[in-house]
Amino acid sequence: MPLPAQFLDELRTRTPLAAVIDRKTKLVRAGRQWRACCPFHGEKTPSLYVYDDHFHCFGCGAHGDAISFVMQSDGAGFIEAVERLAAEAGMAVPKPVADADERRRLDLHGVLEAACTSFARRLLAPEGRAARDYLHGRGLTDEAIREYGLGWAGEGRGALGAELAAEGIGPDLLVQAGLMRAAEEGGRPVDLFFKRITFPIRDARGRLISFGGRALGDGQPKYVNGPETTLFSKRRSLYGIERAGKAVRSGVPVIVVEGYMDVIALGRAGFGGAVAPLGTALTEEQLAALWRLSPNPVLCFDGDAAGARAAGRAAELALPLLAPGRTLSLVALPNGDDPDSLLGREGTAAFRSRLAAARPLADALFDLLRDNAGALETPEQRAALLARLDSAAGSIADRGLAAEYRRTLRDRFFEERRQRDRPTPRRQLPPRPVPSVQNVSAEQARILTAILLNHPDLLHDVEQAYAELALPDDLARLRDAVLGHAEAVEPLDSPALLAHLSAVGLAAEAARALSALPFPLPGCAQPGAMPAEAEAGWWHIFGLMHRNRLDDEVAAARRQFDRLGDGASHRRFLALCATRDALRRGEERDDA
Ligand code: UTP
Ligand code: MN
Repeated sequence: MPLPAQFLDELRTRTPLAAVIDRKTKLVRAGRQWRACCPFHGEKTPSLYVYDDHFHCFGCGAHGDAISFVMQSDGAGFIEAVERLAAEAGMAVPKPVADADERRRLDLHGVLEAACTSFARRLLAPEGRAARDYLHGRGLTDEAIREYGLGWAGEGRGALGAELAAEGIGPDLLVQAGLMRAAEEGGRPVDLFFKRITFPIRDARGRLISFGGRALGDGQPKYVNGPETTLFSKRRSLYGIERAGKAVRSGVPVIVVEGYMDVIALGRAGFGGAVAPLGTALTEEQLAALWRLSPNPVLCFDGDAAGARAAGRAAELALPLLAPGRTLSLVALPNGDDPDSLLGREGTAAFRSRLAAARPLADALFDLLRDNAGALETPEQRAALLARLDSAAGSIADRGLAAEYRRTLRDRFFEERRQRDRPTPRRQLPPRPVPSVQNVSAEQARILTAILLNHPDLLHDVEQAYAELALPDDLARLRDAVLGHAEAVEPLDSPALLAHLSAVGLAAEAARALSALPFPLPGCAQPGAMPAEAEAGWWHIFGLMHRNRLDDEVAAARRQFDRLGDGASHRRFLALCATRDALRRGEERDDA
């Protein structure tokens, strides 16, 4: 229980700090100030500075007032130090103030704020050097560090307790606030955060409720979060919710990511609606909090198996709770990426396109259930999947919406069956599988476009063929803009191209071209594809669409190689030959 603040202020005013410190370590004048060799770490040149009401060591970060100096140097508890100093100052120590629950909670927010201030100060002090270097190395500026209130927890060993004790915050409060673990029998409470970068966690109203802490580099565990307290419930909290609440008012989307660093990277890139659960699967309470901010939050989990599982679980959890104004969308990230890494590599415009291409929950749910179903060879297997689709739809409490989902999921099931059945009758067809079905060639045109959006430097080699393709309207509009941009800009890169397309009002078209719908893009069209793979894929698909043009392209490539004799034109010639030969072999097999 805290002592009255007034008493502590009075005590500090009456206690000459320099005299207290001088008893432990010899003070020397430094201009208008006193300096001393710091008693808290071994040193030969003085780096502990004494000011009117506090001291600070620029070597080890030790910091505090007279009370915490006595605590740190004598190993005294707070009350003990206060009693000693009060006796010297001729003051009587009053009884601690008792307070109600509400008052206590307010105190706890204050306790956390005091810790936050201390952590932030330590990060900027020499002791925080390595942590700051680490954050800089991860692309965070000092401004970002300040904006997100990041800090350095220090070395532990009670320094925080000693420092806050000087503000009248005793170990009990630190334990209640989730900053220390209660003492084992006979011992002292121990710090929960040490040698970690601290991330303040706030509630929707902006009140500080806990911290997350990241080890530097590869230390394990990578993150620790504060324990459950009266203020902090992991399942109810979302990192970043207080900023997201403000940001959504300006129309930005609510984006759910996995990590602290993802929230910060997105926030810095202008996606202020990013939040993250605290290292656990998304809960119902968190979904409810998300829906208070937006009818359609976008889940954007890491592009790995764990991220996919987390998205699946979230979809399942959301289903029964869906309503017409309450749904989710999902963005699938490339394998191995999280939003932080992806933004770093592709930039803001590309990320915006991915967001624009987020899949509605119904689509994502279908893919999930279909992928989990395994083989669909037999009627029994197919019926089992259909039953699972129906049951997923049936778990939606809103009756009208459940019926709509059932229809949508079934439509996709039968659409995929039709797609799958299509190649089978080809054996009886004439040998030239010229894409006769409209949406097959539209899909091919989309893939050709996607390859160029992700690998614009290919344009040099395919420009002529690309320019002459028969394209649907929206892809043709994209092509005009792409070719226009290519003329003006050199060298070409994907993020800049996507930014340009957004700028000329073609963001939606670009997003559709890059979407995983109606079908996931093939490997050659992914941003991560090797240039050679992308080029081979381009010509292959081009060849499927324009059999005759392919022979012309082979001839043209041969002429170019004869003329230039360089590696690039040789590669192109070989790729085209390989494509043509592969297609011919396919025909022969069909003929046989
Ligand atoms: P990640 O490891 O994906 O986080 O874990 P991150 O933010 O991308 O990490 P770095 O800093 O860029 O490497 C996602 C979230 O899971 C929780 C944290 O909340 C983290 O932000 N987590 C992770 C833990 O609670 N403990 C761990 O040991 C690791
Ligand atoms: Mn991550």
